[in-house]
Amino acid sequence: MPQGTIWEKEYRQPKLLAPTDKPQKDTLNFFRYLRKKHSARLEDKPTILDIGSGNGRNANYLATMGAEVSGIEISETALRVAQHEAQKKNVQVKYTLGSFGDTFRFPENSFDIAIDVTSSNSLNEAEREVYTQELHRTLKPGGFFFLKTLCLDGDKNAKNLLKQSPGPEKHTYIMKKIELVEKVFTRQEIINLYTPHFEILELSKKESYTRMNNRSYKRLFWIGYMKHHR
Ligand SMILES: C[S@@+](CC[C@H](N)C(=O)[O-])C[C@H]1O[C@@H](n2cnc3c(N)ncnc32)[C@H](O)[C@@H]1O
Repeated sequence: MPQGTIWEKEYRQPKLLAPTDKPQKDTLNFFRYLRKKHSARLEDKPTILDIGSGNGRNANYLATMGAEVSGIEISETALRVAQHEAQKKNVQVKYTLGSFGDTFRFPENSFDIAIDVTSSNSLNEAEREVYTQELHRTLKPGGFFFLKTLCLDGDKNAKNLLKQSPGPEKHTYIMKKIELVEKVFTRQEIINLYTPHFEILELSKKESYTRMNNRSYKRLFWIGYMKHHR
């Protein structure tokens, strides 16, 4: 089943996501870090791209803080929820329906900041190449990037999933109940993927819980703070 169809089904009948309209905590920490260490403040109205914006919990929040936000999302249902919430909050966010595994519909150097909050781990290798290239093209020189993505190093649940239901590409597994393919990354894979275009300012591991069929699983995530090369 195409991954876009899987996400659409997921938003219509959630099995994996626990929808909330509260902004994601690690994302908030990143914006605190930018303020403290790089004097980059949301009140200065940076342009921000939210990659896989889902129900808009992060994009809409960032817009309420003054940023000029755009979001790309593959699920029409999620996009509609995000737009509705933006209206309720009385903010403008430019939501685009489409895949971030395809060419982004934005000119080069459009954004000061991009965020990818557990979104790109469902891309395949060919799409991931387009996504990193497009991120590089549309982020301004010296712009910042926040990444939260699935981690392989030290994650027992990830190792079990890789063994029990391997996916079509390296370090991927298929989540059987929903047929979603996910990739888990080693530290070296993150470094290889992003250092051609980014300086990695911080890369840490964070333990969080994910839900599947009403059960919680402990998982590890990479939290990356990056700066686009000039
Ligand atoms: C785990 S959810 C995270 C959503 C959001 N970033 C958040 O923190 O709430 C992953 C999101 O990425 C979207 N997504 C996955 N693959 C995509 C693709 N190729 N293009 C656009 N959106 C995609 C999914 O529909 C989903 O909304």
